[in-house]
Amino acid sequence: MRRITMAAAGAIFALSLAACSGSGAGSTDDESTGAPADTGDLTIGVAMPTQESERWIADGDAVKSGLEKAGYKVDLQYANNDIPTQQQQIDQMITKGADLLILASIDGTALSNQLQSAADNDIPVIAYDRLIRDSENVDFYVTFDNYKVGVQQATSLLVGLGLLKADGSKGDAAGPFNIELFAGSLDDNNAHFFFKGAMDTLQPYIDDKTLVVKSDQTKIEQVATLRWLQETAQKRMEDLLTSTYSDGSKVQGVLSPYDGLSRGIITALQNAGYGPGIDAGMPIVTGQDAEIASVKLINDGVQYSTIFKDTRKLADQAVTSAQAFLAGDKPEANDTESYDNGVKVVPSFLLDSDIVYKDNIQSLLIDSGYWSADEVASGQAS
Ligand code: GAL
Repeated sequence: MRRITMAAAGAIFALSLAACSGSGAGSTDDESTGAPADTGDLTIGVAMPTQESERWIADGDAVKSGLEKAGYKVDLQYANNDIPTQQQQIDQMITKGADLLILASIDGTALSNQLQSAADNDIPVIAYDRLIRDSENVDFYVTFDNYKVGVQQATSLLVGLGLLKADGSKGDAAGPFNIELFAGSLDDNNAHFFFKGAMDTLQPYIDDKTLVVKSDQTKIEQVATLRWLQETAQKRMEDLLTSTYSDGSKVQGVLSPYDGLSRGIITALQNAGYGPGIDAGMPIVTGQDAEIASVKLINDGVQYSTIFKDTRKLADQAVTSAQAFLAGDKPEANDTESYDNGVKVVPSFLLDSDIVYKDNIQSLLIDSGYWSADEVASGQAS
């Protein structure tokens, strides 16, 4: 085993140090001195899309604290969902000498220049949650199984309508049911995976007319929501109610791929006289992210479901992958096929997600410490 001295600095220092101990750069002791590893010279740039949504705040906090615990300096930036701002922030991270980048993109196709300059400076890049497209300079991708998230969203819609039981067996309802579909931002690769997973699940029911998309808007381009904005979804739901349901017919289910959109959709429905809750005619509305405001709505019987993606686990995975790179290793991938970014298939680590219904809020979210019972009751993070 190679011995090194604490005098070494920067990336070379971290590389040698980790090679010496055989574990991650953040957890090593220098065996020649017995002193704790000094990874404090290494800075990791973390770019997050927006603070408008609670999940990205949680992600940013968790990644930052995980990296700091591992001994790194962290430069965490949020970009207000503005693409030029995010580009500038990443440029600056590179100029300031970041040793590694963890990036959750706004527009997955808009970072090619930044990634080229990272590669020119030998800075490894980890795409966080959202794939960065059209660049060979993405070294790794940590995310959830996004196709499966879409399957889960559609499954919960079918369960809510009574077409399936929660265990996946056939439900008692026969339909037909009127539904409407929403998708996320087209420049977010995830939006396509969510929608594909959902549509593969719903299509057989649409084909046999158990489900009727009354607006006839079934293509992702027709149902997408730029930047995942709540007010955009609210507006589209209002427009759908006017254009398609002013003949007295009712919409009974809405596929929504994200809690922020779900809340906009629910507001539009309530303003039009639906609900307030499911037992008073609110359609089955799905979601994603287990945002606290939506978990409360589920607990109150207003929103039907969400998908829980434990951002703590995603942050841990990002930290582990960063440590591997800085130790001169390759992070462990569990998927080397699904995420073709247009230039190459990016090695990925995919995490699992769960469907949240009212009756498993306790076991999934409260028992795991993700939200407290008080937060669920108030709908606010404390
Ligand atoms: C996606 C992400 C979802 C949701 C959405 C809107 O990229 O995977 O969990 O947060 O963005 O922020």
